[in-house]
Amino acid sequence: MRIVRTGEEMTRLSMCWRDRGLRVGFVPTMGALHPGHLSLVDAAREACDRVVVSIFVNPTQFGQNEDLSRYPRDLQGDCRLLEDRGVSAVFAPDTDVIYPEGFSTTVSVAGVSSGLCGEYRPGHFQGVATVCAVLFGIVRPHAAVFGMKDAQQLAVIRRMAGDLRLDLEIIAAPVMREGDGLAMSSRNAYLSPEERRQAPAIYRGLMKARILGINKESDPAAFKARFLSEVEPMNLLKVQYVEVVDPGTMAPLDRVTGKALLAVAVYAGATRLIDNIIIGPEA
Ligand code: PAF
Repeated sequence: MRIVRTGEEMTRLSMCWRDRGLRVGFVPTMGALHPGHLSLVDAAREACDRVVVSIFVNPTQFGQNEDLSRYPRDLQGDCRLLEDRGVSAVFAPDTDVIYPEGFSTTVSVAGVSSGLCGEYRPGHFQGVATVCAVLFGIVRPHAAVFGMKDAQQLAVIRRMAGDLRLDLEIIAAPVMREGDGLAMSSRNAYLSPEERRQAPAIYRGLMKARILGINKESDPAAFKARFLSEVEPMNLLKVQYVEVVDPGTMAPLDRVTGKALLAVAVYAGATRLIDNIIIGPEA
């Protein structure tokens, strides 16, 4: 497995594979890898001949009061996990490789970036879309894999790749969960034992709401109430939002008649957790 630090070397390596007719898969990450990330790598390996994983904690997607400085970092440990998983190259650039002096472009994806996390994290999706556009330009993949846990991020990237005709397949990988249902996230490492004990109520709430949909409930308010009834009794959990939206556009729905997304953000103490589930009669 190659560890690549510069954009030029990364592009050269990828173009060399492409010239040999090999399909290049890409998994962008911010490191602190857990089994959820490794499932994205597996999806890339299944669809492609070579897999590149980037590890870059992107400063432009963190707000002023967010956790950029304390975001967990462990490049060596991450590389060991990726080597065992059959990754061909890790792209681990410094900040000035991605944002050299004079860098002046931002990519802003309207509509799908507003609401949900976009409302509470202004500028976040602009930071994500911009860094992904730069990474795609450097890595030149045929396919890139994103997790469905970050459903709004996935929708933003799909929209961007489509609008900019990037000739890039976006593969969605399912949410990976701990045994008690908590969605895997690098931020779970911040939870105190008691917060960790209470956090699975988020998944229980989503599952109970899903059952309403299977039983033909169509009123978004009923789904939200069912979710809240499971989470609100937990004294360390504070719901930031719970919304029923179209899974492609992220627009709020008045009624659930087909596939819909129940998306939530919940604080467990100071740690913000997001999760979601597909609801609807056929979910
Ligand atoms: O999901 C993440 O880890 C990040 O938002 C991403 C896609 C690597 C961009 O920095």
